[in-house]
Amino acid sequence: MDRASEEARVRFPGHDEGFEGFVMATYKLLLLPGDGIGPEVMAEVKRLIGWLDTQGIAKFETEKGLVGGASYDADKVGITDATMAKALAADAVLFGAVGGPKWDSVPYEVRPEAGLLRLRKDLALYANLRPAICYPALAESSSLKPEVVEGLDIMIVRELTGGVYFGEPKTITDLGNGQKRAVDTQVYDTYEIERIARVAFDLARKRRNKLTSMEKRNVMKSGVLWHEVVTQLHQREYKDVALQHQLADSGGMQLVRWPKQFDVIVTDNLFGDMLSDIAAMLTGSLGMLPSASLGDIDPKTNKRRALYEPVHGSAPDIAGQGAANPIAMLASFGMALRYSFDRGELADKLDAAIAAVLAKGLRTADLKSTGATVVSTSQMGEAVVKELQALHA
Ligand code: IPM
Ligand code: MG
Repeated sequence: MDRASEEARVRFPGHDEGFEGFVMATYKLLLLPGDGIGPEVMAEVKRLIGWLDTQGIAKFETEKGLVGGASYDADKVGITDATMAKALAADAVLFGAVGGPKWDSVPYEVRPEAGLLRLRKDLALYANLRPAICYPALAESSSLKPEVVEGLDIMIVRELTGGVYFGEPKTITDLGNGQKRAVDTQVYDTYEIERIARVAFDLARKRRNKLTSMEKRNVMKSGVLWHEVVTQLHQREYKDVALQHQLADSGGMQLVRWPKQFDVIVTDNLFGDMLSDIAAMLTGSLGMLPSASLGDIDPKTNKRRALYEPVHGSAPDIAGQGAANPIAMLASFGMALRYSFDRGELADKLDAAIAAVLAKGLRTADLKSTGATVVSTSQMGEAVVKELQALHA
């Protein structure tokens, strides 16, 4: 637990105690809005931070930086060393989205996504938590039948710093006969599988005590090892958790067939990328899914490195129109309150405020449904803050 969290925990032991009279811990946040709709949804987090600050509910010291295409335009890289240093110094990083057609032809090493991948790798954020929760008001917005998604609450734990995203060699070779050969390498060591599985088992214990591990052991050696390591860890330390193994393709099918059978799902980097996009649609829209990327607690500083980002991308087709859904970004900030700052009570209130706004029928364009009021990005952000205010009154 970091110092700020420790203070917060000591000073805010209960759920609904008044905040007056306490010396507030200041949380250091680095804001990286990025590209496309990133800056628009980040603006709504800034609104929320500003409100929390004026109300004396939480104090933040924020810095801003460039990432992705915005960083490429300014400095010809996906992220600069200076911004990386700021990320390493912050208590948490809030990340918007990166990429877009404007940067389709920039060199691979400095493409917008390289900025995000460097952040994940250099901060060693190996555990990516992607909760998929279907708010009651949105059961109708999903492409699946309401009874399939109503009350859904699952957690995908995606390994984030290994596998085929980072494995070497990673090359395209000219074979000289008019052919080229592309190679990506899927690599996992025992410790990488074990530490992500441990995160997933621990989460399952705090939830419904069920873990499903997904891999492709029927065709991949990394799947064979994944299965073996998860099974052994279960036997050694987590026998109380119900563990199930599923092949990742069949797991994808089960996710759309009857998603409520799952509690926590643990899977590798690539499968996790795909399965979490599928899970996102169960919640009504990709614009609803937040995520937390966590590293280990540094024994020297007692801090857990962390980055929070919406699962959705930069959506260049709707950027700049005020049409983006800020909920995934706001809920990602909520995860920062929960996992970095130990302010779970405030995170719960933020979630309740989001649910209340949706229950009142307010929808951004991605969530349009009959009888709903379509609002802009900033109207949605404003409405969430207003609900939070009401919950605090
Ligand atoms: C995600 C995104 C990223 C990924 C991209 C932007 C590099 O799809 O976070 O899910 O593939 O991990
Ligand atoms: Mg993705």
